[in-house]
Amino acid sequence: MFRVARTLGALRRDASQLGTSLLRREAAAPALSVQNMSTKADLHADRARVAAVLGAQWGDEGKGKLVDILARRFDIIARFNGGANAGHTLVVDGKKFPFHLLPCGMLYPDKVNVIGNGVVLDVPKMFQELQNLWDAGHNTEGRLVISDRAHLVFDFHKLVDGQLETAAKANAIGTTRRGIGPTYSSKAKRDGIRVAELVNTDWDYFVSRHNALVDSVQRMYGFEYNAKEEQERFKEYREKMKPWVRDTVSLLNTALREGKSVLAEGANACLLDIDFGTYPYVTSSSTTVGGVATGLGIAPQRLESVIGVVKAYTTRVGSGPFPTELTDEVGNELCRIGHEFGTTTGRARRCGWLDVPVLRYSTFVNGYTSINITKLDVLSTFPEIKIGTHYRVNGKRLPDGHMPSTLQELAAVEVEYETLPGWQCDISKVESFKELPAAAQNYLKRIEELVGVPISYVGVGAGREAMIRMNE
Ligand code: GDP
Ligand code: IMO
Ligand code: MG
Repeated sequence: MFRVARTLGALRRDASQLGTSLLRREAAAPALSVQNMSTKADLHADRARVAAVLGAQWGDEGKGKLVDILARRFDIIARFNGGANAGHTLVVDGKKFPFHLLPCGMLYPDKVNVIGNGVVLDVPKMFQELQNLWDAGHNTEGRLVISDRAHLVFDFHKLVDGQLETAAKANAIGTTRRGIGPTYSSKAKRDGIRVAELVNTDWDYFVSRHNALVDSVQRMYGFEYNAKEEQERFKEYREKMKPWVRDTVSLLNTALREGKSVLAEGANACLLDIDFGTYPYVTSSSTTVGGVATGLGIAPQRLESVIGVVKAYTTRVGSGPFPTELTDEVGNELCRIGHEFGTTTGRARRCGWLDVPVLRYSTFVNGYTSINITKLDVLSTFPEIKIGTHYRVNGKRLPDGHMPSTLQELAAVEVEYETLPGWQCDISKVESFKELPAAAQNYLKRIEELVGVPISYVGVGAGREAMIRMNE
């Protein structure tokens, strides 16, 4: 017994020494550079069999637009996380298409779109979105596949989401009230209902599962509910969606084996991730690179390209820490020029300068092979542009890529900025890096240098065509 205790003590001492020396090394680590983060050469995901588009900040970076552009060369476009809390806007031939649940490959007549097992499926919302596409003349026949393992969002999940937010008052997360948290709670509590239980079992079985779930959630939160009415609605949905439901793990992996390609479309973003985000002001799913594997059933080593989507400044919708937030006229200008109003809720987004510590952290978590800078055109009228380069706490710089994990620590962060000259001219028609004014080129080069990841694409307008491919 005594020997064991001594051994454990020694182990603890070793571990603590290792921890201390690792911390020292972390603090003294050289700044990231594009070279030492160098990636496989497929900058634009032109050849990757499996690629992912992920939000690098707090969402609404412009993921949908990049997915729509890249979708041209992929066979399958797949959502792996979140639900109808996402709002991905595509602008094609001047027409706006807002997507919430459906993957952004739906506008192409020859692409298969998958809703993966990691998604929480709001069935009425899905039908609403499909109806919008049908009304606009898009035929979706045979192009939507839903995972049998995806969890179902019910109206009571949304009700509870709203109730919790209202009760939290000043501490509310500012959720989209789409039932996301309560549905993932049911999933984690292991009494959630999956798509297969709606379409692949006897109707009575679904009814009993639904009654049990209503009962369980009601016992926790107490609310009036007409379960029967919801069951009647789902009876109709069941018949309509049955042909679209598949074992998507098998479908995706068989497609890959046959040489087909998959583009994973991230929803929400790194700093909203349930583990890596600014907890508790986060969403309830894995929005980061690991979510691609767990939300689709594709092994992680298959992923060849991970593009981080980075808005040229920072925005956040909902509550929670935001170190580079501008609450002055500059922030209002960014909101006005960038049309920073939520696609899902219409709320004004909070705006601030680019936050490099967020991007370094997000690069650690997601291992971006390249980044897409979006909305560069929004900065075109500013005489000066700031970049938040480092966080300081008690006057000391935090190590590269370190993101404080508590709200208290985040509140204590001071941001170090550097100021770059603006370009003050219209860049919305620019088609190549060379054509950009020198000040805009310098801004991009500085971002690459500070984040340590090459830029693959630069957005200069909302339209599908307003995207510069770098290095060409
Ligand atoms: P997502 O959630 O990441 O897909 O982003 P959202 O669609 O919620 O928000 C991005 C908004 O910016 C949308 O309205 C896009 O149409 C728009 N957008 C995307 N890229 C650009 C760009 O490069 N310039 C401008 N001006 N707008 C862009
Ligand atoms: P896309 O995919 C921006 C935010 C909400 C809230 C928090 C939790 O368009 O980038 P939830 O309803 O998920 O429980 O809300 O997360 N949020 C987003 N913010 N863009 C999104 O998605 C978001 N999805 C969730 O505003 O602060
Ligand atoms: Mg959005």
